[in-house]
Amino acid sequence: MKLHGLGYIGLKASDPSALLSFWTDVVGMMPARALPGESFGSPSVTGSGPVSGGSGKAPDGSIYLKMDDYQWRIGIHPDSTSGLAYLGFEVEDDVALAAAMAEIAAADVQITQGTPEEVQARGVCGLAWCTDPCGNRVELFYGPVHDRHFVSPTETQFKTGELGLGHALVFVDDLEASLGFYRGALGFKRSDFITFGREMSGHFLRCTPRHHSIALIHLGPFAGLNHLMVEVTSLDLLGAALDRATEAGLTITRSLGRHLNDKTVSFYMQSPAGFEVEIGFDSVLVDEAIWCDREAAGGEIWGHKTGNPNAFKESAHSLA
Ligand SMILES: [Fe+2]
Repeated sequence: MKLHGLGYIGLKASDPSALLSFWTDVVGMMPARALPGESFGSPSVTGSGPVSGGSGKAPDGSIYLKMDDYQWRIGIHPDSTSGLAYLGFEVEDDVALAAAMAEIAAADVQITQGTPEEVQARGVCGLAWCTDPCGNRVELFYGPVHDRHFVSPTETQFKTGELGLGHALVFVDDLEASLGFYRGALGFKRSDFITFGREMSGHFLRCTPRHHSIALIHLGPFAGLNHLMVEVTSLDLLGAALDRATEAGLTITRSLGRHLNDKTVSFYMQSPAGFEVEIGFDSVLVDEAIWCDREAAGGEIWGHKTGNPNAFKESAHSLA
């Protein structure tokens, strides 16, 4: 099957509306112009626009964020816990979705057609969902709304398109089963892996030229979201984001640096919801004709210093 990248992601937080300024004023996204399933109205009819009025805020307390032509890319939903709610990977159309469902079922993974209500809640034409071995909801969808008119409040431009919105790095408690699910049932390819120590490793999986759309990190019996990465289109935009994060008083969990494996120049900050957000630039694009799976020894070319060398493990332990 062909997956066209991480199309949308759902997150959980206790008070999503309190996070809106982080995602807009610091990260540079804008509230969705209309909520998923909501009418955009008619340009020729005064006052017929969406009831949400471009606030991005839904009646149930969720917020939706836009970062490119897609109607929305990030949904944050009220919950007593913080972290990952769902991952949405895009397929071409209804035919591709049906074929993908058949492939996944053939791999002995239960896959369920989305209900009309679930389809409307995502603003797509169709979806199916399954659960990865760590309990994360994984959706395949087609036919998202494209409404253009992305205007960043910080004049940020994000690198998305065929690469999807970015990547998610998740801790997995059952590595072998998780690799089997993503590589086997969903057809991801491994770009490379890093070994941290005995039975501790990270695996970087792609479904587009983006080096990884999901990374699976196994450090122990913990599962959950470590960080979400979005990529900007210039070094100046990356630097400006770092300035805004610093000025907002956010904790920079990893300083500016360049990863060894995907060559991304980035910094990490702790979002108000707890998990980290990485802002990146200049990530490598995989050439399928020549790229082969490999082990990447060492994590950084330079930078990415952390004031707390145990931060990675501690964030995992916090999920226990
Ligand atoms: Fe990352």
